[in-house]
Amino acid sequence: MTRESWHTRLGFILAAVGSAVGLGNVWRFPWMTAENGGSAFLVVYLGIVLLVGVPGLLAEFVIGRRSQRNPAGALYRLSSGSKSWRAVGLFGVVTALVLLSFYSVVGGWILRYFLASFTGSYFGSPGAYFGSIDFGVQAVGFHVGFLALTALVVVGGVRDGIEKATKVMMPAIVVLLVALAAWAVTRPGAGAGLSFYLDFDAAYLRANFFDVLGAAAGQALFTLSLGVGTMITYASYLGDDNNLVFDGSAIAVLNTGVGVLAGLVVFPLLFATFGELTGPAATGGGPGALFVSLAGAFSQVPLGQPLAVLFFGVIVLAALSSSISMLEIPVAYLVDEHGVERRSATLGLAGLVLVTGSANALRPSLFTFVSGTLVNLMLTAGLTGFLVFVGWVLGADALSEYSSGAGSRVQSLGPAWLWSVRTVLPLFLVATLAVNLLALAG
Ligand code: PHE
Ligand code: NA
Repeated sequence: MTRESWHTRLGFILAAVGSAVGLGNVWRFPWMTAENGGSAFLVVYLGIVLLVGVPGLLAEFVIGRRSQRNPAGALYRLSSGSKSWRAVGLFGVVTALVLLSFYSVVGGWILRYFLASFTGSYFGSPGAYFGSIDFGVQAVGFHVGFLALTALVVVGGVRDGIEKATKVMMPAIVVLLVALAAWAVTRPGAGAGLSFYLDFDAAYLRANFFDVLGAAAGQALFTLSLGVGTMITYASYLGDDNNLVFDGSAIAVLNTGVGVLAGLVVFPLLFATFGELTGPAATGGGPGALFVSLAGAFSQVPLGQPLAVLFFGVIVLAALSSSISMLEIPVAYLVDEHGVERRSATLGLAGLVLVTGSANALRPSLFTFVSGTLVNLMLTAGLTGFLVFVGWVLGADALSEYSSGAGSRVQSLGPAWLWSVRTVLPLFLVATLAVNLLALAG
């Protein structure tokens, strides 16, 4: 059987954008931003996306396209059979399962808001509503529903499942967010939200530099789907003619744009509804920021209900195109390395995540630890491993893979890219890892 591949170049870009754009942009980003000083966080985050995220994306593309394998198989193959490098890839496979275990819970929340928008059940008390559905048996139910949808697409495979689904969703998200942002910034009281989000606060940054750095680095990797091997896996279905640098930049720009737009929706609405945020514990902060702010806003406007149906519907799709990219990693691993059938691999892994995700849906403290702290640590460690691999094991081969399909101007940037992948980028990531670990210990 020949391995699957993307139908078109655009299909790959959209699928990778589909993986990148998701709950990280609309749910985790506002939450992290609110907890880390707003604009101070935004600035550091954007810097890391540009200086670490884009070169990191390229490193994963290079591994994937060169090996045509899942992360574990890729590192094993390209290191001519090193078991230690295979373990690094396997770490990514495990990370993907950890990610999906909380992502599917949030996906379940979105699914629920989508359905509740038809009846308007949360319109009366948007704040209290979230508190009543966030964790517990019902949350487990919606998590299972979201996971089932994810598994359904993954069973369908690369071309028919993933590629087709994402082609429709991306344009819809952008159009909706632009419209919502235009409306949100004109709400009374929105100005305070905008300045929290956009007025650079140097004093906050100075006082909390390391916390902001650790959180921003984790979020930058999360939002670009880096450090797990998603981008390795997606690029493994790719041909030689793609210009990786162009594709990678397009993905980063689109993803960042959607994130920034989501902030322009959430912060004006949060402040318009609740006034000044007073810290992480403020009503609108925490993992509920997105839900509380939007649900509150939709309940106040004419046509709020159909608008809410549309909005949460689109977010469900965005979340799905990311969750399928998480599940695809361990599936590709079992298919490639152990000859398991795609269908059985998908069902078995979904069964596993059903259990681990339910634990997150029942225990708020576990959920917050996994989705906030643990993910930052695992992604940072994972990407460090991939960069060291590209820089020191692939070396010159990485450069020729980087150059294949690229124009001469892009090729001339190759040596600088490889140099940073060997030196400053892993050092930076190790430093943020240390910062995050210290914060955990302290
Ligand atoms: N980037 C996705 C988002 O922002 C999350 C994700 C992380 C997906 C890692 C795949 C791998 O929602
Ligand atoms: Na993202």
